[in-house]
Amino acid sequence: MKRRNSLLFLSGVTACFFSMATVSFAGVPDGAIVFERNCSVCHSVNPPPKSAPPIIPLANRYHQRFQMKEQGVAFMIAYLKKPDKQKSIDQQAVARFGLMPAIQLPDTELRAVAEWFWNQSNPAYGAGGGRGPGRMNP
Ligand code: HEC
Repeated sequence: MKRRNSLLFLSGVTACFFSMATVSFAGVPDGAIVFERNCSVCHSVNPPPKSAPPIIPLANRYHQRFQMKEQGVAFMIAYLKKPDKQKSIDQQAVARFGLMPAIQLPDTELRAVAEWFWNQSNPAYGAGGGRGPGRMNP
């Protein structure tokens, strides 16, 4: 009797483990994959640019502008849904490449790619636009 109970308990734990695993694999999209599929046609990660500003200097700009990851991510999600010349954090990029088209993706994927994007910042690269690291280390 006792043994049977513990077996039941164990199979319960196993079931929980598997359902959790499904959520983390299927429920939360991988930002790097979302980027590859939906953004990398226009955005390279490192300079030189394709038809849009590269990710690392752009992520550095977001870090200069926003203190908190959540603020930067929320701003980026809103921008991806509805790019706006007035709101763009990189006016030079708008002038050089034109306004980005709106991205039609589920909110979960927009959030995953925005979080991934934020994490790509690298102070060694500067913030793009030809100003380079000099602007960050005056
Ligand atoms: C058709 C080309 C194209 C695609 C696809 C594209 N972008 Fe862009 N993106 C641009 C261009 C051009 C700019 C610069 C002008 C601007 O800011 O609107 C830009 C700017 C941005 C910016 C800076 C916005 C700001 O605050 O000024 C972010 C962040 C960004 N893209 C993220 C993404 C992500 C993430 C994806 C994929 C989900 C993506 N882009 C897909 C062309 C593209």
